[in-house]
Amino acid sequence: MSRNGAFISLEGIDGAGKTSLRELLIRGNYFDNIISIREPGGTYISEQIRAILLDARNTGMAPRTEALLYAAARSQVVEEIIRPALAQGQLVIADRYLDSTIAYQGYGRGLDLDFLIQLNHLCTGGLKPDLTLLLDIDPREGLRRRGEEKPDRLEQEGIIFQEKVRQGYLEIAAREPERVKVINAGREQSEVLAEAVEYLRELVGE
Ligand code: TMP
Repeated sequence: MSRNGAFISLEGIDGAGKTSLRELLIRGNYFDNIISIREPGGTYISEQIRAILLDARNTGMAPRTEALLYAAARSQVVEEIIRPALAQGQLVIADRYLDSTIAYQGYGRGLDLDFLIQLNHLCTGGLKPDLTLLLDIDPREGLRRRGEEKPDRLEQEGIIFQEKVRQGYLEIAAREPERVKVINAGREQSEVLAEAVEYLRELVGE
């Protein structure tokens, strides 16, 4: 299948503001022909896998099971939504993608990075984002922003886990500076949005 659209992923620890940024990018009508998904999720099947992954009662889930379920959810959304949208020339914005697995299951849980990369390569056919915006924030601030919201299974892991995930993200960004742009998400939402729009404009030329 040929590919004409552009694929952007939003990444960051819990509470960094990805979901709000995604909503602002869509509501602001900055770009035409956008489609957006969240991960895990984005399709009927992937949303069911999401429910298993985030269920706070599933405390016994083995790290490899977790990685396989995220990969399964991703495989479905790539096949059903992302590849067809790119083939039609759409701008796809994904709230999380492969870097979440590297940061959370790799740096957070300690699974082998090569295992995760190979697994995800198989599940996505090697599809990578053209651009990734990494919203970087101190985990304490992320926690504060989440406020009273009941934590899901991953959020229950606490500050030390989120700190490992954050460092993982920063290492990914240092390895792939062309693709991954780090945005300081500790600032006002309007500033974060403006920087994100600028990066997107550079990519799609609108
Ligand atoms: P969300 O709260 O941003 O919707 O994401 C759900 C949780 O799943 C979040 O804590 C991050 C985690 N996650 C992983 O651990 N690995 C992954 O590959 C993805 C996509 C999400």
